Amino acid sequence: MNDLNISRTPDDIKIDVRHIEFEGIENKPRYWHGDNPILTHGLNAASMFFPQGEIFFIKSVQNFQNQITDPKLREEINGFIAQEITHSQQHDVFNKDVYKQGYKDLQRMEKLVHRLLAGLHKFGPKKLQLAVTVALEHITAIGANVLLQNPILMQDVEPKYKELWYWHAVEESEHKAVAFDVFQAVSGNYWLRILPLVVMTITFIPSIVVLQLISLRRDKLSSDAKKMDENKALLEAVKPALVQLRHDYMAYYRKDFHPWDLDNRDVINQWKKLYQETGKAAV
Ligand SMILES: [Fe+2]
Ligand SMILES: [Fe+2]
Repeated sequence: MNDLNISRTPDDIKIDVRHIEFEGIENKPRYWHGDNPILTHGLNAASMFFPQGEIFFIKSVQNFQNQITDPKLREEINGFIAQEITHSQQHDVFNKDVYKQGYKDLQRMEKLVHRLLAGLHKFGPKKLQLAVTVALEHITAIGANVLLQNPILMQDVEPKYKELWYWHAVEESEHKAVAFDVFQAVSGNYWLRILPLVVMTITFIPSIVVLQLISLRRDKLSSDAKKMDENKALLEAVKPALVQLRHDYMAYYRKDFHPWDLDNRDVINQWKKLYQETGKAAV
């Protein structure tokens, strides 16, 4: 335990739990992402990791919950747990529908992820488990920020399918420093913090691409030239976002890094305003 037993989340960020009815996520068209198989399968693959991953994140933080003395950070841990439980449940509904559509490779992979994380939870050092969570929360937070900052990524998606992703992205942004601040309180070891990010970068991120390709192959769409061209055009349009993504990713390796160095309160507040005014999580 060190003297950093404090929350460094800005005071105007509240980690709220929102229960939103996500219409249609259990009954989606096969290519719910604007009829684009490449983008649909990319996000389906990412979604597969959430239910098991987020339960693991919760447990890894709970291991140290009683060592946290700062009342603000204690309250934020409760918010973090409640948000992640809800994400896990909603993505489980989303994913079961994808499996029902015949993407059994994803379902098999989810079982494998469950076994791997259960093994890590049972046998791994608790501080390592927390460091894995901190690394994955960083990947999730920077991905969420790119989604929120670049409406073009979701421009062809019906609002009812967008809602789940924007809601999740906002809440990931709100709680992005909770596991990090707990880690700083109970360890703060730089190498322990960065090593899991290196490992996740060469395992977890490529596995999303591989699963996306497997699903495309299952659909016999790996050479769908029209969609490939659409994707290339989109990639061109979001190049600045990819530069941002790289910058935000690399920031984690700084010794004095904190998740709120990447301040995205503007997009969080924009979304919250829309949600308060319309009750909708996306337009
Ligand atoms: Fe989440
Ligand atoms: Fe999270």
